[in-house]
Amino acid sequence: MQQTNAGAAVPAHIAIILDGNGRWAKRRGLPRSFGHRQGAKAVEPVVLRCRELGVQSLTLYAFSTENWSRPASEVDEIMRLLREMLQSAERYRGQEIQLRLIGDRSALAPDLQQQIEQVERESASCTGMILNMAINYGGREELVHAARTLARQVEEGILSPEEIDEKRLASALYTAGQPELDLIIRPSGEKRLSNFLLWQCAYAEFVFMDILWPDFTPADLDAALEEYRQRDRRFGGI
Ligand code: IPE
Ligand code: IPE
Ligand code: MG
Repeated sequence: MQQTNAGAAVPAHIAIILDGNGRWAKRRGLPRSFGHRQGAKAVEPVVLRCRELGVQSLTLYAFSTENWSRPASEVDEIMRLLREMLQSAERYRGQEIQLRLIGDRSALAPDLQQQIEQVERESASCTGMILNMAINYGGREELVHAARTLARQVEEGILSPEEIDEKRLASALYTAGQPELDLIIRPSGEKRLSNFLLWQCAYAEFVFMDILWPDFTPADLDAALEEYRQRDRRFGGI
């Protein structure tokens, strides 16, 4: 196991599960869509704080492969907010932030796919930080996708089954080439992964927080980082 960031003050790769939008709205007697809108507003300050701290990769879980089971109106609202975020992506480009979408984008609306490709293209040369937006992302789907990629290479004779090792599998994941995941933060009080970054979580530190995502501020990120710094990461050693 690669020890990318043992003992380092700033994690190289942070992932956050953007959870709690619905409950935020419910507590105020508002429709869930208000919670999603407020949740979308909470994203930028946290992204910029990560950039300022020198984080190399930030992965945000915004829509899971299981979230399609929600009412169509709610799914539409989340996709609308994603479009809005992509439309204002040049603000991130100004900060040298490269945007990528991770997940199965083939299920998204064709115009949204085009918009994603355009934003990825336009920010491809940014070297300050990678922002992975996990949309229609599932950890199991990612592993299936990777298995298919490798199987195709074996079929084409480019690869032998014996050559498939951890490094090769990691290079077939959506996060290929990015630093090992150091820290995963889940606000909202839930203590589960919900199919997020199953492979990448192998040696990540977990911080669960009793705050709903729309209320999450850079100060909460700092608090999570403080907790991270207290952890003794051993990677199986002593
Ligand atoms: C996270 O907030 C956003 C998505 C999953 C898209 P939720 O909508 O899951 O909020 P809660 O968990 O119901 O409060
Ligand atoms: C996980 O949250 C997915 C995202 C935040 C995008 P969910 O709200 O979908 O997870 P569960 O259903 O509580 O496990
Ligand atoms: Mg939720």
